[in-house]
Amino acid sequence: MTTLSVSSLAQSLGEIPPESIIFGHSEVMQAVRSRLAKVAAANVPVLINGESGTGKDIIARMIHGLSPWKSGPYVKVNCPAIPGTLLESELFGYEKGAFTGAFGAKPGRVELAHRGTLFLDEISELDLSLQSKLLQLLQDGQFCRIGAQEDKKVEVRVVCATNRHLESEIESGTFRQDLFYRINVVNLRMPALRERRGDIEDLAHYFLEYYNRKFNCRARPLSNEVLGVLQKYHWPGNIRELENLIKRYVILGHEEVITNDLVAREPDFFNPEISLDGPISLKKVTRQAVRELERKIILKVLQQHHWNRKQAARTLSISYRALLYKIRDAGLPSNRALRLQQEEKTNSNGNGKIEATAD
Ligand SMILES: Nc1ncnc2c1ncn2[C@@H]1O[C@H](COP(=O)(O)OP(=O)(O)O)[C@@H](O)[C@H]1O
Ligand SMILES: [Mg+2]
Repeated sequence: MTTLSVSSLAQSLGEIPPESIIFGHSEVMQAVRSRLAKVAAANVPVLINGESGTGKDIIARMIHGLSPWKSGPYVKVNCPAIPGTLLESELFGYEKGAFTGAFGAKPGRVELAHRGTLFLDEISELDLSLQSKLLQLLQDGQFCRIGAQEDKKVEVRVVCATNRHLESEIESGTFRQDLFYRINVVNLRMPALRERRGDIEDLAHYFLEYYNRKFNCRARPLSNEVLGVLQKYHWPGNIRELENLIKRYVILGHEEVITNDLVAREPDFFNPEISLDGPISLKKVTRQAVRELERKIILKVLQQHHWNRKQAARTLSISYRALLYKIRDAGLPSNRALRLQQEEKTNSNGNGKIEATAD
């Protein structure tokens, strides 16, 4: 486990986390780290792939911080956040009188990023005409403000990010292949959190200390039981989801926040992790699917019996001991955790009925 010094925490407040946390110990992230170190210094376009919440924004900022133009501007454009019609003028700027309402000239973000980094987030959202303009920028460093007679020249390092599979977009005709090759000179793939489970504990500790300090709270370290639950979860929202969960725990102060939240998100537990990037081990995928199915059935039966584990074991035709083992193995919350939550609910709605039963 990584121990965090107070100074590194203080330094990271409001800033990106320390490198030891960002990269953790997992092999996949060590590979990202060494690739990042190699590419950041070279002034080439980088494409960052990865599911939402895997840290693409953080990595883009790190690329800028390690680049020869680190003292220059860092300009981020969140493509889906800007309506299609406005995106062109936001990106490339316009001249006075270019369209109704253009009372003065305005530089676009491409120009503002001169001698710095232009980070285009969710690049697949650019329509085909903007893709052509971006291609021109990447090919010869030139672009044209809307309504301008002449092209302008700019020196900018372009970093793009996407959570989409751009090759499929190319096949369906919504993304230009030539642009893909230009932005994808170097590719960094951010692994999903479930591909780096070994880092979950350190990340959880980090967010716990961070939010304890930030909100002036004293939430206690997580129990082994809850850490076990975090280990098993599928994390569709990746690090962002983990961070938000710990933040809620720090504010509300009891661990049931975590266990019950994750149980409520149950359907996501069972998405089989099938990555089509490489060879698939049918044996492994099948074993995993069986485990997940078993877990799903146990959870259903436990819920049906209001978490009375003896009754659940009888319904499942397994021994009580076997069920206890399976509950632990599957990372399901203990009966105690659920009982506490039910009591809390009862106290707050005052109906005096406690649903979870002791064994
Ligand atoms: N490797 C990491 N270490 C610590 N925190 C991270 C890491 N990656 C992401 N985060 C945190 O998770 C949240 C989502 O990260 P972000 O970079 O916005 O993801 P993305 O752009 O891939 O959706 C942010 O609050 C960020 O601080
Ligand atoms: Mg992002």
